[in-house]
This record gives sequence, C-alpha cells and structure tokens, in this order.
Amino acid sequence: MEWKKFAVETKNRNPWPLVTEAISISRCTGLALDIGSGGGADSRAMNDAGFLVYAIDSEPQALRNVKGLGGIMPLKIDLAKEKSELPKGKYNMVVAYNSLPFFGRKNAFEIMSETKMRMSKRGVFVFSLFGKDDDFVKRKKAFSVTKEEIYRKFKGWEMVHFIEEHKTEGKKWHILKGILRKR
Ligand SMILES: C[S@@+](CC[C@H](N)C(=O)[O-])C[C@H]1O[C@@H](n2cnc3c(N)ncnc32)[C@H](O)[C@@H]1O
Repeated sequence: MEWKKFAVETKNRNPWPLVTEAISISRCTGLALDIGSGGGADSRAMNDAGFLVYAIDSEPQALRNVKGLGGIMPLKIDLAKEKSELPKGKYNMVVAYNSLPFFGRKNAFEIMSETKMRMSKRGVFVFSLFGKDDDFVKRKKAFSVTKEEIYRKFKGWEMVHFIEEHKTEGKKWHILKGILRKR
C-alpha cells in the first residue's frame, strides 16, 4: 500500500461524516486519538472542536500533514507490531477509520482492547473495518470482521450508529462502520 501517496492525496478531504457526528454527540472535549491519521482531516476536525489530538501513523507524510498545528501531537508509531505503546491518558474520543484492518488481526484486536480500557465513561469510538467481500481482504492486504465480532468485542457499549455497506468505487468495498459509546 502506498501510504505516502494516500496521505498527500487525502490531505484536503473533509472529515468522515461519522467523525463529524461523533463530535456533535460528544459531551466533552479533552484527549482524542486518531489511529492511522493519514491525510489528517479527522485529526483537524477533532482539534477544531477543541480536542487535544494524538495523530498516530507510521507514515511520515501523514505526520507532516498535521505538524505544527497547535493541539495536534503527531506520533510515529508502527501499530502492526506486537505491544505497540499507545499514548498514556484517558481518551474521550478515538477514531480508527480504515486503519485497524491493516495492522493484522491480533494487533488490531489488542489495540481495540487497550483503547476500550483507556477510554473514559461516555467516550466515543468511531470505527471503520472491512468485511469478507472487500477487495483488500480478498487480496490479503487486510483482515475482515463480522458484525457479531464487533458487538462481542464491545459488549456492554452503546452502538450509537452502525452501517454495513457494499459498494464499488475503484475497488469493491465491504465496510462495517459506526460509532460506539462507553457506558
Ligand atoms: C486507509 S488509510 C486511512 C487513513 C485515515 N484514517 C482515513 O480514513 O483517511 C490507513 C492509514 O493507516 C496507516 N498505517 C498503515 N499501517 C500502519 C502501521 N503499521 N502503523 C501505523 N499506521 C499505519 C497508513 O499510513 C494510513 O495513513
């Protein structure tokens, strides 16, 4: 995957609608994480809303996209490694949009466990993962999840919004995405 090119090409896109929705339902600001920040639009949207954002990516161009913006701390971390260290603190919002599927199933599930533990009560988690019919999954570039696995992983959390979609836009997409809130 050419993440440098991706980070350049998506630098000026708008935040994802689910991120905008999550910001609007979030009861407070505080600390936020953008896991696999890429172009940086979601980090910037959270920052504009008043969050102090850790933008995490292994691609230097992604970090350059948010460098020097007050309130965004770019962090170079390879999350496909075992036991990757997430920044310390209690997060009020976490965005993991189209990034976890590229870290390997075991690492991604560990990151989700750690995120769950570190999130504050009423904190919101925005996710986008891939289903089995996605071309990235078929080409073995990413792993897939089922709706049941997501619900099991976040048992006890409120599923504020959940969407499963199939579409063809350049490639075949099979996306499972949504907003979860810690009770
Ligand atoms: C498909 S992009 C999604 C970016 C952004 N969240 C979005 O929705 O536009 C995946 C991002 O994950 C990052 N990434 C891929 N492998 C990574 C790894 N091992 N550790 C940290 N970030 C990684 C890429 O550099 C890229 O920015």
